[in-house]
Amino acid sequence: MTTDTSPPDAVAGSRFFAALYDPFLWLGERAGMGAHRRELLGQARGRTVEIGSGTGLNVGHYRRDVEDLVLAEPDPAMRGRLQKAVRGGPRGARVIDARAEALPFDDASVDTVVSTLVLCTVDAPDAALREIARVLRPDGQLLFLEHVRSESPTLARWQDRLAGPWQRFAEGCRCNRATLELVTASGFRVDARAAAWPAMPPIVRPLAIGRATLVA
Ligand SMILES: C[S@@+](CC[C@H](N)C(=O)[O-])C[C@H]1O[C@@H](n2cnc3c(N)ncnc32)[C@H](O)[C@@H]1O
Repeated sequence: MTTDTSPPDAVAGSRFFAALYDPFLWLGERAGMGAHRRELLGQARGRTVEIGSGTGLNVGHYRRDVEDLVLAEPDPAMRGRLQKAVRGGPRGARVIDARAEALPFDDASVDTVVSTLVLCTVDAPDAALREIARVLRPDGQLLFLEHVRSESPTLARWQDRLAGPWQRFAEGCRCNRATLELVTASGFRVDARAAAWPAMPPIVRPLAIGRATLVA
């Protein structure tokens, strides 16, 4: 058991965010985001570690036979909800308290890392990506579904303008982060497609969905 040492305001904020998370995403999940998750997570194989699992919206989208699924979530309020969600998930799935920048796994010991809507939020995405590269086996894969900086200069300018308020509203999420470029700069080969997050504000609508593998 871990003790949350965050200031009381931060604890209340993260509880509020965790409580609102699923209702806020509900429509988008039904309008297509759930299908994006399912298609991506169907590619998970072998020992699979999901970072920033949140309330567990991915849990029901894994194949039931996925082997050794570990769901990592550092926020206690999110983790409480995740614990409940995992009861209906693949057999043997377990929840741990870990940040993406410090994963409690040996070097080259994981086949699949999953990140959905997480690399926008971690404070040090380059450190998280180094850690993902460290734990992945040489033939391992990072499966990702992330909202990204828009390729439209007009929308990107709006993402820059609204980045501060959005970050406060969405518990640290950076709506203007060029996540795909960060993944490539961290030594991964990326195979991604563009999509849209339905029923969400335009500043977080552009999605990149795909698979990244280590460059030998
Ligand atoms: C927008 S939510 C995404 C939740 C879930 N992955 C999903 O697809 O719905 C971002 C999650 O990242 C978690 N998070 C924040 N900082 C993190 C870090 N450094 N390492 C891992 N997860 C982190 C948050 O606690 C939160 O649960």
